[in-house]
Amino acid sequence: MTRTTTPRGTTPATTSSADPAPGAVSEMRAVVQDGYGDVGVLRSTRVPRPVPKDNEVLIRVHAAGLDRGTWHLMTGTPYLLRLGFGLRRPKNPVLGRDVAGTVVETGSAVTRFRVGDEVFGIAPGSFAELAVAREEKVVAKPAGLSFEQVAVVPVSALTALKSVVDVGRVQPGQKVLVLGASGGVGSYAVQVSGTWCCLSGRGTSSTTGVTTSPTGRGATTSSSTWVGTHRCAGSAAPSRPGARPCSPAARGATA
Ligand SMILES: NC(=O)c1ccc[n+]([C@@H]2O[C@H](COP(=O)([O-])OP(=O)(O)OC[C@H]3O[C@@H](n4cnc5c(N)ncnc54)[C@H](OP(=O)(O)O)[C@@H]3O)[C@@H](O)[C@H]2O)c1
Repeated sequence: MTRTTTPRGTTPATTSSADPAPGAVSEMRAVVQDGYGDVGVLRSTRVPRPVPKDNEVLIRVHAAGLDRGTWHLMTGTPYLLRLGFGLRRPKNPVLGRDVAGTVVETGSAVTRFRVGDEVFGIAPGSFAELAVAREEKVVAKPAGLSFEQVAVVPVSALTALKSVVDVGRVQPGQKVLVLGASGGVGSYAVQVSGTWCCLSGRGTSSTTGVTTSPTGRGATTSSSTWVGTHRCAGSAAPSRPGARPCSPAARGATA
């Protein structure tokens, strides 16, 4: 039996619209799951299009990243997550979180984005033609990057950033051990650890060392066996007010 799926977002917003008039479209194609399990629970079908709330934007999805958290939501494991996302089946049947696309509708309280803006960020239900995201969950897409490139950034890179900066509180001169450096989070953790001091203005030289170790999973080392010392390889442009740029000698230096 085909179950009717209802994506989140049911409160009509005071909006402006563009693109092929999304307001006039009542349905969209999406990847949905009716229960938890392996990839067999997924199917492509038509569902009602989401409607942005006042503080949300509606995004026409150009690319959607696949992060580890999406796998957790598909399988419903660890079981504890079901308390928040749905006991027997996900409350939002449309899968996906990482998103990159074009804003096609804005809620009445949205101030940072307009219709036509290219953005990327986190939108629950991004494996669809349209997805809604809270305004603070998306940012403008850099012009020099493609939708595909930015769509793999949000969840994994934010996790890495939070781990290294907020939790790890990495300081200049410290070395960072990254386990699983080939993974979504790990690959960003390597980059964030090697550049954070420059980008934050807490250092102008190659003061942060990054070393990753073998996985220890036997003789065959995996791609997560990345060993080396990262030096400050970040952008010359400071990312925060008051931050100082990296010195030219420090930028791109690796050992
Ligand atoms: N709290 C959050 O908000 C949040 C967000 C994202 C992720 N996470 C969690 O962070 C972890 C990593 O996520 P991810 O996206 O980076 O996953 P991922 O892309 O699947 O990468 C997993 C990494 O772990 C390595 N690995 C797997 N099994 C291992 C083992 N037995 N011993 C040593 N290394 C092993 C893999 O190495 P190979 O390449 O050799 O397989 C790979 O480098 C996951 O547990 C995920 O649930 C949490």
